[in-house]
Amino acid sequence: MPTIVFASPKGGAGKSTAAVLLASELAERGASVTLIDADPNKPVSRWGSRPGKPTTLTILANITEDTIIDTIERAATESAFVVVDLEGTASMMVGYALSRADLAIIPTQGSQLDAAEAVKAIALIRRQERAFNKTIPLAVLFTRTSAAIRPRTLKSIESEFVNAGIRVFGNTIHEREAYRAIFVFGGTVGSLDPAQVTNIPAAMANARAFAAETIAILKEPAVPQRKVA
Ligand SMILES: Nc1ncnc2c1ncn2[C@@H]1O[C@H](COP(=O)(O)OP(=O)(O)OP(=O)(O)O)[C@@H](O)[C@H]1O
Ligand SMILES: [Mg+2]
Repeated sequence: MPTIVFASPKGGAGKSTAAVLLASELAERGASVTLIDADPNKPVSRWGSRPGKPTTLTILANITEDTIIDTIERAATESAFVVVDLEGTASMMVGYALSRADLAIIPTQGSQLDAAEAVKAIALIRRQERAFNKTIPLAVLFTRTSAAIRPRTLKSIESEFVNAGIRVFGNTIHEREAYRAIFVFGGTVGSLDPAQVTNIPAAMANARAFAAETIAILKEPAVPQRKVA
């Protein structure tokens, strides 16, 4: 079943956070989800080693360049969704994972400097498309955005992507204490203690909207996207 790969060469873009939010949300709806931790630093595995991981979510770690394709393919036959978290670099492993993506999500913060790194990720995906002679649907996801305002800079960067034919998620992942807290306490946003973490309902709603949009994108028929330099 569908494989969703989070990729960006920019460290700290929000890949692991968004991957855990998406995988948790899908699993909490009852779907079987395999979350592949393909980052040697293993942030997702550390999260999963704490209590509260949804029961239908399986984490696979210790993935190498040699095993990544087999691991994704096997997981795709066994789970309703496969989510892959990659390290913030352009390695062979990243390329191989992208070659098996039904959707590549490129998280980026809303600055011009960060967007330039997202463009690099898009260029890498385009090269993988040529190398593997297949279309890899992709979408840019703005992360760590303000829940209160959508600044002009963000709107302008978003328009640049859209004008270049690049899909941008309508939802963004807001900057939320809850999204840091799950990595500290483990579990899902919904399982956090409201006495310890603020604004849990808003964080849950945001994660849910992001997951729903991801599913909607996966259901769309593939549309060829224009090339970006
Ligand atoms: N939406 C958010 N709200 C609050 N904190 C966030 C959010 N997204 C990411 N962070 C924090 O920013 C830091 C980097 O996020 P994350 O680890 O998800 O990025 P990454 O792209 O996976 O980084 P790397 O390339 O190093 O794997 C972490 O400390 C994380 O807790
Ligand atoms: Mg990460």
